Amino acid sequence: MSAAPASPYGTLPAAPPAATRKPVSLPRLREMHAQGEKITMLTAYDATFAAVADAAGVECILVGDSLGMVCQGLGSTVGVTLEAMRHHTDCVARGLRRAQATAWLIADLPFGSYHESREQALRSATVLMQAGAHMVKLEGGGWTTDTVYFLVERGIPVCAHLGLTPQTVHALGGYRVQGRGEEAAATLRSQAHALQDAGAAMLVLEMVPAALSAALTAELTHCATIGIGAGAGAAGQVLVLHDMLGMNLGKMPKFVHNFMAEAHSVQGAMQAYVRAVKDGSFPVDALHAW
Ligand code: KIV
Repeated sequence: MSAAPASPYGTLPAAPPAATRKPVSLPRLREMHAQGEKITMLTAYDATFAAVADAAGVECILVGDSLGMVCQGLGSTVGVTLEAMRHHTDCVARGLRRAQATAWLIADLPFGSYHESREQALRSATVLMQAGAHMVKLEGGGWTTDTVYFLVERGIPVCAHLGLTPQTVHALGGYRVQGRGEEAAATLRSQAHALQDAGAAMLVLEMVPAALSAALTAELTHCATIGIGAGAGAAGQVLVLHDMLGMNLGKMPKFVHNFMAEAHSVQGAMQAYVRAVKDGSFPVDALHAW
């Protein structure tokens, strides 16, 4: 394959030799899950950072609706539109293609784009898949189960998201730990099982107690848990790019580690993140979890 054309404004990182790079596919992610190899995920919102993350060995790139905060300066993800998600997914997908990258690309369905009906969810997911996503992510349990089944049946891989679901921050009363206490844990557990049964291939667990996340990870054999502030027991980890580079404009969440502090480059910080997730040294439950 020919190299990306030279640009006066910066070049995308060179991909490692083709022999060492297998495209990350759903079967490959399922294989990693089955073999107990930790899955790494980072958010990215533009071509360059996505290509750098891929070159650093990150398997899954998430175009998160956290772009509302880190790119658009919004106070929450509630104001992020489907058009904004389409635009950033398109930018990231283009960057990955130009860099001959292999990463699996996930895009968030934003607030209001899947709430009305499963048909609305299918239309919104189609927009993101046609922009280059390989999988869509949606928040919540219970009412979302039918939607997940509907999308998966139509060939759209789905990542679910439970625990702290930022799109419902106003209903939750803030960015708080979820699933604490027997009743809350039982609800989360039954929602997670229903999402797995509906066909969700991945499940982000955000800000839930480490013990609950570890228990769910052991129980969900067909759905890989991806933790963020959910302890070391999850099948994989995700962080918001700007947080792990120490570029948080507000208060750094407890579950984040600043990988840039000990690195000489962004790619080096991402490589350190990949290494730490793979060898189990990040997260440390006593430091980054509840
Ligand atoms: O929007 C986002 O970045 C996310 C991650 C925090 C999981 O949903």
